[in-house]
Amino acid sequence: MPGIVIVGSQWGDEGKGKATDQLGDRVDLCVRYSGGNNAGHTIIVGGEKYVMHLLPSGILNPGVTPILGNGVVIDLDVLYTELDELAARGAEVSHPLISANAHVITEFHRTIDKVTERFLGKAKIGTTGRGVGPAYSDKVNRIGIRIQDLFDESILRRKVEASLEQKNHMLVKVYNRRAIDPDEVTDKLLSFADRLRPHVADTSRVINEALDADKVVLFEGAQAHHLDVDHGTYPYVTSSNPVAAGACVGAGVGPTRIDRVVGIAKAYTTRVGSGPFPTELFDADGDRLREAGGEFGATTGRPRRCGWFDALVVEAATRGNAFTDIFLTKLDCLTGWEQIPVCVGYEVNGTRHDVMPYSQTDFHHATPVYEYLDGWTEDISECRSFEELPAATQRYVNRLQELISCRISGIGVGPGREQSIMLHDLL
Ligand code: GDP
Ligand code: IMO
Ligand code: MG
Repeated sequence: MPGIVIVGSQWGDEGKGKATDQLGDRVDLCVRYSGGNNAGHTIIVGGEKYVMHLLPSGILNPGVTPILGNGVVIDLDVLYTELDELAARGAEVSHPLISANAHVITEFHRTIDKVTERFLGKAKIGTTGRGVGPAYSDKVNRIGIRIQDLFDESILRRKVEASLEQKNHMLVKVYNRRAIDPDEVTDKLLSFADRLRPHVADTSRVINEALDADKVVLFEGAQAHHLDVDHGTYPYVTSSNPVAAGACVGAGVGPTRIDRVVGIAKAYTTRVGSGPFPTELFDADGDRLREAGGEFGATTGRPRRCGWFDALVVEAATRGNAFTDIFLTKLDCLTGWEQIPVCVGYEVNGTRHDVMPYSQTDFHHATPVYEYLDGWTEDISECRSFEELPAATQRYVNRLQELISCRISGIGVGPGREQSIMLHDLL
């Protein structure tokens, strides 16, 4: 069972980091395949909290080779800050391997991310401001800078100059900002070259050879299905393909190498940044969910928007990724409600929808249709088997499973590595 992908099934922050870390001691390679340090994956090991933005969460398991695939965009400042911080905390981590084809995020991408958001005003996406979108735009525009460019100074200098020529016009004339000096950017990038060199590899080949040798390769998704640039709630999305198929493109493996696709679903719903969210709660119930779940962004610290579980959202992700399993997280955070609403349909201008509508306009106008399930009051954080869960909790899980058309194989009952109930083995 060597190739397994972990994908967020909602709008991010479902607990992908914890699920990845939990599988970690049985994994040989842990690969990030999309996104950059817009992610924030929280892992709690022995009471110590770690937040990975760029590095794969499997890095905390000795014996795992962490890999940043070609589909990732890399801010080298962040890469080395994360590695140095882990070392300073005494964490024993293996050196990551980095694809020579991965693109880099530079200072000018961060600047452009922020000024374009400001320019959009009320229509802003609510990005993390990490320069991820502008770095992917350059990649698709074929003016991006790749990791391998750092090893050829003259090529690097030319590429940075070419990339900045048009941007500087825009920064100065449209955004009223000062121009960025291409030499400064180039010198900064070159300063990483020596440290970077031993990490750089043909990671597609490394991963394929590991799969040939029957090793376990875990592809750790960042962001989520509904933040995918093709399949998400465009334009309120990220600029990459977090979906399972993105693992093939972003790591350089064929689809037949993927054996399992695990969707991570929170027992309720959250979203950071702008965009439609039918079950969002704007009242005290929303505040209560946010408090119970500690729903504040791991990357930006922004309060997350909170709402009830939306079965249509997760069902669409089940279909689009062909999930073989769902890991349901944060069930413990729902303890204490008398009744728990679950969204089973939408009303849009008098029409009932049982699946997510394809039209952006319809989705923006969707009013949730709720089914009300019984809540429970017992603390479930110490439960380690399905049978130990209160009867109402079991009914909640079983109903969700029916609605999302995928078996629930794991349940999170707390943030700690051991705070899970496994119904089916994921590997
Ligand atoms: P990711 O981006 O998908 O990795 O998720 P985040 O780390 O951004 O957010 C998930 C948050 O929920 C983190 O604070 C985790 O420590 C926490 N968490 C994950 N699973 C569980 C769970 O089952 N129960 C509780 N109470 N917290 C969880
Ligand atoms: P993890 O991996 C939640 C959201 C941002 C914004 C939109 C675009 O921790 O689940 P970007 O900076 O990517 O251009 O922002 O996507 N976003 C996330 N929301 N979790 C994430 O990652 C996210 N990464 C990006 O809030 O709405
Ligand atoms: Mg997160």
